[in-house]
Amino acid sequence: MPSLLASVPTSSLFWWATPKNLTAGLVAYLSYEIIYALYFSPLRNVPGSFWARISKIRTLISDIKGDEPEYIIANQEKYGSVFMLEPYKVAICDPSDCRLVLSTHAFRKDRQYGNIEFLEPNMFLTVDPELNKQRRRQIGPALGMASLRRMEPKILAAGVVTLVDKWGALADAAENGEAKGQLLLRLLDDDMHRPVLTSDDRRIVRWVNRAFTLMFMEAILPFLKHSPFNRILRPLYQDASDFITFGNAAIKQRKQELEQIDEAHSDEKPADILQSLIDAEDPESKVRMTSGQVTSENIITLMAGTDTTSNTLSWGIHLLLLHPKYHRRAVEEVRSQFTPDHVITFDEAKARLPYLEACVYETLRLRPVSGNLPRIIPRGGVVIQGYFIPEGYSCSVCLAGANMNPDTWKRPHVFYPGRFVDCDYNKHQVLTFSAGVRVCPGRNLAMVEIMTTLANVLNRFDLRLPEDSLFKPDIRDQHGLPIIMPRNNAVTSAPMFPDRDCNVVISRRK
Ligand code: HEM
Repeated sequence: MPSLLASVPTSSLFWWATPKNLTAGLVAYLSYEIIYALYFSPLRNVPGSFWARISKIRTLISDIKGDEPEYIIANQEKYGSVFMLEPYKVAICDPSDCRLVLSTHAFRKDRQYGNIEFLEPNMFLTVDPELNKQRRRQIGPALGMASLRRMEPKILAAGVVTLVDKWGALADAAENGEAKGQLLLRLLDDDMHRPVLTSDDRRIVRWVNRAFTLMFMEAILPFLKHSPFNRILRPLYQDASDFITFGNAAIKQRKQELEQIDEAHSDEKPADILQSLIDAEDPESKVRMTSGQVTSENIITLMAGTDTTSNTLSWGIHLLLLHPKYHRRAVEEVRSQFTPDHVITFDEAKARLPYLEACVYETLRLRPVSGNLPRIIPRGGVVIQGYFIPEGYSCSVCLAGANMNPDTWKRPHVFYPGRFVDCDYNKHQVLTFSAGVRVCPGRNLAMVEIMTTLANVLNRFDLRLPEDSLFKPDIRDQHGLPIIMPRNNAVTSAPMFPDRDCNVVISRRK
């Protein structure tokens, strides 16, 4: 029987959709949202801007503009350490509150992480605490210091040694020994993760960047995963598929190579992350990962560890160059401890370069490359700074906010490495690697790479900003502080104009 509706002309179905009625409907809807947000929402007493209370627009603008840290810091200065971010989401910036939320799996990662489907479930993206715990038991030891010490010769050879060779050759080839202009700190992007990659293949850097874009799109706009919209993302899916195929092939090749090594010579196995992932075993259940799972973890490790580490290095060198007194002190410390051609290892740097380590912590604090960590409020709700936040609502652990919290840090906007000299307490307050049950498992690897790169670069090269740099020690803001190059917060917080602002002049040490 034909539907009754089918016989009604479409125009008469929408008789009510006149401009006047549509406007009235919109006004009624907005009035409801505003009245609810201001007078009835359980979050109505949490401080925050009007716009944050009634819509997600301001956070969307931040996502697009990439000014999330600035937005969070400005809000914290205005409203305090807890404030509205979106109608059902609050921002948390007090380090103790952040630690509380991060300390337990009860605050699950936001559903957005679960929207990402182009990779098999993995330690980073899963919102399932049990899977996360298992993966951390399996993979954790591979990224622990004992394992990294075995890998360190490879890390150094593929990372900083390649870098200083490259920079040395450029300096030697340059007139008057100074290599200028096109030297970007971003050169580090391609150099940092060869410990995991065994080739110079630059496709991997491209795949990592493209996978990030895809991850971002799937998380924020999940409908794009489905037909017909998925056509828009087809090139990204193709890259993701190539990345996965490459990862699977690497495992296959490694397994074939291992077949050549018999049990008696198992210590001849390559000491690298790929091997650690293949060998990883959950000590409780004795479960190991399938090849697909290893690939997924390998890819997510590359994604989580590449830009974060190289951008931190870029920020570190930039901040030192803007603060010549601290730069000089770090250089003097390194050069007083090591001869010019010595390759400084992590243990050496850690034991003998406390000031350099302080500079690294201050960089991590002032320019955290990681952004907000969204979590779901668990059953029963939670009280934070006296405000009750009901279950099912969200909170965002704001690392940039916590690292600038005025109750925790004196003069938080000032780059002052001295606050970390002989002060382990302050080191623990820096939340850039997160904390608690889902703390970054790659933080040791990141510190090995950052410390050894900075130590060896400062030991071998004199660095300075080019004459035409827009950012110099004497170009200051209204508070008298050197202006730091702008950042762009897409997935990690990176220099916004690297081609313009990341240039350095390099010469061999005098
Ligand atoms: C300066 C460098 C780095 C910074 C600042 C950093 C920061 C972070 C942060 C804030 C998280 C928590 C994310 C969240 O809860 O959503 C995280 C998680 C993670 N990081 Fe890092 N990371 C760095 C380097 C690395 C490296 C080198 C690796 C890999 C070897 C790595 C692997 C991971 C993984 C797998 C997770 C997920 C852990 C989980 O959810 O249980 N990170 N990282």
